[in-house]
Amino acid sequence: MTITVILGAQWGDEGKGRFTDALAHDARIVARFNGGDNAGHSITIGDKVVKLHMLPSGLFRQGCLSVIGNGCVVNPRNLLHEMADVRAAGVEINPNRLKISNSAHMILPGHLALDAAREATSAGLGTTKRGIGFAYMDKAKRSGIRAGAMAEPERFAESVYAHTVEVNKQLDREYGLPGVDATEAAGAYGAASQILKPYLADTLTLLNDALDDGQHVFAEGAQATLLDIDFGTYPYVTSSSASIGGVCTGLGVPPKFITRTVGVTKAFTTRVGAGPFPTELFGDMGTRLRGTGANAWDEFGATTGRARRVGWLDAVVLRYVVRLNGISELALTKLDILTGLDELKIAVGYKVDGGDTRAYPQDAEVLARCEPIFQTLPGWHQDVRGVRTFAGLPANCTAYLRAIEAATGALVTLASVGAERDQLILS
Ligand code: IMO
Ligand code: MG
Repeated sequence: MTITVILGAQWGDEGKGRFTDALAHDARIVARFNGGDNAGHSITIGDKVVKLHMLPSGLFRQGCLSVIGNGCVVNPRNLLHEMADVRAAGVEINPNRLKISNSAHMILPGHLALDAAREATSAGLGTTKRGIGFAYMDKAKRSGIRAGAMAEPERFAESVYAHTVEVNKQLDREYGLPGVDATEAAGAYGAASQILKPYLADTLTLLNDALDDGQHVFAEGAQATLLDIDFGTYPYVTSSSASIGGVCTGLGVPPKFITRTVGVTKAFTTRVGAGPFPTELFGDMGTRLRGTGANAWDEFGATTGRARRVGWLDAVVLRYVVRLNGISELALTKLDILTGLDELKIAVGYKVDGGDTRAYPQDAEVLARCEPIFQTLPGWHQDVRGVRTFAGLPANCTAYLRAIEAATGALVTLASVGAERDQLILS
């Protein structure tokens, strides 16, 4: 009768999928509550890396139902491609293993065109160009099309046609761009809805029945608190609620069931796209943390392939995220990447406008003026990739974890020390 929540504690790409995969072993349901296929969760199995964008990580667990909740936005064409990729990795997907909320909103071809058009102008935010913001815009405008409409493929295709025609006028008027082929769009979406129709469900009832029945439900956050539409570095954010409140609004479950909230953070910081990033590193140290792209785990986007911006761990950000979400446990990923550095830095405060602060400024313009105040710690040189318990970590690594706990107010109870599925510290 409990919900475990996994949330991104930075700007995304923290390795959330790894911990859903590891901690959901007794979960009856794994549910996505926000975002769309802008997410990129890589799961390494043997020498294969499977990339999930929209599908919940629960699909990799036998006996586990995966739910795409009402708070999500769904691109049916991309979803079918992703289902094919996951099946190719040997995972079974059928309507008994995956449910899509009738109330989730659809990402239409026009949303993709508008996202790409705006990104090509000076107003671009560095989005993933998956049409996310424009789909949520239609939802908020109360003119969106919901997944339940796929139950009637012909009418759904007509709605897609009408939406595309409207968007084409806007593309011409606002951007001077040619329109999208409305007939092709309607045909492709109509065909996709025929296949996806059996997956549609009243997921609110399904989830609450499972909870009343004493089942364990896992809520898998996509994106992260610093990308949250309300609490992130607005306007350099995504368009959904990626923090704790999104669990209730994005699944239709009451907060009383939430008993465990785990925040996932890298052992350093990364972000993709534009926006302020106080601890950002350039030059050799940036390259050292990012990697060259030769390894699957190097810091290049799973969704867009863009090189991620990298920096030292920002504990001012983490403290804000811990308080806002009620996070009691932090999962620290990529500890192995820090091995071999002589010293490490953690931002524990900012200098801004002539003063010092430990409080995260919610205004992106103020954040852009912040200079980090660093605590410097000695690094470690022992290889940690074979370590499976916290007690087995080198002393300087333990000291690094203790410093993070002191600065954020949350315990580090989980960690990853390599890209393999089992390279985790769970106790
Ligand atoms: P996961 O789940 C990292 C970023 C984009 C951009 C901003 C808005 O893998 O952690 P959008 O396409 O959502 O309108 O883009 O948000 N962004 C992510 N960055 N990981 C993600 O998801 C992201 N989803 C969106 O780069 O800056
Ligand atoms: Mg990502």
